[in-house]
Amino acid sequence: MTPQSNGLWWERQDLCYRDGTLFFAGRPVIDLIATTGTPAFFYNGKRFLQNIGRLHKALDQLDAHKIFYAIKANRFAPVLTHIKNLATCGVDVCSPKELLHAFSCGFNCNEISYTATSMTDDELKLLADNPDVNLNCDSLSTIRRLAKFCSRRSIGIRVNPAMGIGYRDNEILKYSGDKTTKFGIYKEQFEDALQLAEKNNFTVDTIHFHTGCGYLNNQLSLFSEILGATHWFLDRVKDLRFVNLGGGLGVPHDIDDAQLDLDAWVLLIKSHLGGRGITVCVEPGDYIAKDSGILVLEVNTVEKKRKTDFVGVNGGFNLAIEPAFYGLPCEPVVLTQKTDQMKSVTIVGNINESLDVWKDSFSMPDQIEEGDPLVFINAGGYASSMMSNHCMRGQVSENLLV
Ligand SMILES: Cc1ncc(COP(=O)(O)O)c(C=O)c1O
Repeated sequence: MTPQSNGLWWERQDLCYRDGTLFFAGRPVIDLIATTGTPAFFYNGKRFLQNIGRLHKALDQLDAHKIFYAIKANRFAPVLTHIKNLATCGVDVCSPKELLHAFSCGFNCNEISYTATSMTDDELKLLADNPDVNLNCDSLSTIRRLAKFCSRRSIGIRVNPAMGIGYRDNEILKYSGDKTTKFGIYKEQFEDALQLAEKNNFTVDTIHFHTGCGYLNNQLSLFSEILGATHWFLDRVKDLRFVNLGGGLGVPHDIDDAQLDLDAWVLLIKSHLGGRGITVCVEPGDYIAKDSGILVLEVNTVEKKRKTDFVGVNGGFNLAIEPAFYGLPCEPVVLTQKTDQMKSVTIVGNINESLDVWKDSFSMPDQIEEGDPLVFINAGGYASSMMSNHCMRGQVSENLLV
């Protein structure tokens, strides 16, 4: 008899078991891979739109807001054109190639936020040639060198409030904090930055900060403190029109995580920024992309070594780097529920690196056989976009389901 799914933590209408068979975006996953084979990424176009829609609904509680989707999370061109055609959403880009890619997917200059670091002169020239792109300068050097190519332009300044935030307070997901980082201009140099802008006839109309990735409800009080720390900067900008809060909104990664409470989040934003007559901008990547995608692999090795039951699959950390690099939990899921009996296994990839472990000592249905597909949920963000061809095992298909 097929075991009944009793509502696993990650199940939702477009990602769930129906009669023991895993469905994604309204299709049985087994049918999806019948045409593509594995490894394969599948993205649910509707989920991208729902995630953007949920953010808009929360942010509608503010006087004015804009969403720029950070394409570094997932830049698959069909996804970007889908968003361009069907959502009210700009994009955040962080390199010349990403800028040109955004243009090629239909985004106009004024729908693009550009927030980069260690920028070259060529890059600054490109931005000088596209004055309507919302550029956030993250150093005095950027402002000084931009002035070689243009003047009388609006710019944003990325500031560093010396506080950081990240999934489960993970230090390596923080972009600012006790340790001095490259991201943004600190208090100590902010007056110099404003003077440099003025000297070159740049109008500073935006303050930008992005202090880390993956925050959930437990980090909201810290988020409030960070917002509080930015008042000092905002108070010093006479032509302020936009405050860009960056990205960083997280999604649940395992059973211990709850969905981010967007109403609580927006209430904090309102309490700190309300009444200033500004437009609040956000540039989330993960919140929009991560749970919109799955990665399907195939088990090729089932073998006990000493006391550990290993399950080897045909894709490794080169296809989805976050579990290995950032220690983020991933969730392997079977395609067909055949048993309620559970077993502890260690799931590993096919890359010759000790880092290449998907999941250590993970309790899974005791049914895995060589040749079975295995699905990794939450593979829509920072997976394919950070992929490498390490060990020349980078072959994977990407597929948008609409
Ligand atoms: C400047 C900036 N904005 C937005 C993002 C998107 O962050 P997330 O995907 O965590 O929302 C990043 C991520 O690195 C970033 O550096």
